[in-house]
Amino acid sequence: MSATSEILPLDAPRLLTATPVLQMESVSRRFGDVVALEDVSATVYPGEVLGIMGESGSGKSTLLRLMNLEDSPDKGDYRLDIPGAAGNLFDLDRYGRRMLRARHIGIVYQNPHLGLLMRNSSSGNVAERLLIAGERRFSELRARAGDALAASEFPLERMDAPPIELSGGMQQRVQLAKAIALEPVLLLLDEPTTGLDVSVQALVLDTLKRLQRDRAITMVLVSHDLGVIRTMADRVMVMRRGRVVEEGLADQIFQDPQHEYTQALVHAKL
Ligand SMILES: Nc1ncnc2c1ncn2[C@@H]1O[C@H](COP(=O)(O)OP(=O)(O)OP(=O)(O)O)[C@@H](O)[C@H]1O
Ligand SMILES: [Mg+2]
Repeated sequence: MSATSEILPLDAPRLLTATPVLQMESVSRRFGDVVALEDVSATVYPGEVLGIMGESGSGKSTLLRLMNLEDSPDKGDYRLDIPGAAGNLFDLDRYGRRMLRARHIGIVYQNPHLGLLMRNSSSGNVAERLLIAGERRFSELRARAGDALAASEFPLERMDAPPIELSGGMQQRVQLAKAIALEPVLLLLDEPTTGLDVSVQALVLDTLKRLQRDRAITMVLVSHDLGVIRTMADRVMVMRRGRVVEEGLADQIFQDPQHEYTQALVHAKL
């Protein structure tokens, strides 16, 4: 056994031969004088949870918005392992981006107002996603929306309630149901539990973990909460001022951080 293989995790050979679901190369994004991202690269393998952590303003949400094709970088290359998604996805026009996003990428925002129509019914919010996939029969739309809500552990007796009447934890479950309704290739989560009570946060994280285990959904999870990252992530990327300062297996990042910024983050928390 070579020295390298001894330090790799058990499933490393599978990962090393697998085609990444997501590959982002050398992405930079400025807003005026603010450098939100500088030369950021990321790779995510099938079924993996990539955690992204870093202080406020470090560029986490900007990166996730780019992964969701909501924004364009100043430079960089983005590829997803999806049939029909060839070349640099940042070259797609608005329509191409929208179709790709609707069919293959799910997203949960910290702020449910960004992801949901708050006065439409919860089931309607999920059904909207299914309409994009061409489903038109009311009974089928309702059944499939119910399935996605149930998978997100949303109480089905409330499926006709509008999100505005629901608690924060329930709103996140509706966002999650909408995000997974079409079985996305990639699930993006931007602070999905921030602002929730600790007990509710734990329940939502349990749901995410169960979904991840049962469906092996590939996820990118942004959080400034190290506990959330530690609970969920297989690999971690640490960002500061728009740059990746360290990345590695979650266990290594938390137990043996190399960069002094990561050390400060981890030790401040422990
Ligand atoms: N649309 C925008 N216009 C101008 N500046 C922006 C815009 N979006 C982000 N920025 C700036 O880019 C930097 C990175 O912001 P971003 O929202 O990605 O950080 P973040 O890591 O998600 O922070 P937080 O933890 O507070 O959510 C910040 O300085 C922010 O002010
Ligand atoms: Mg953010």
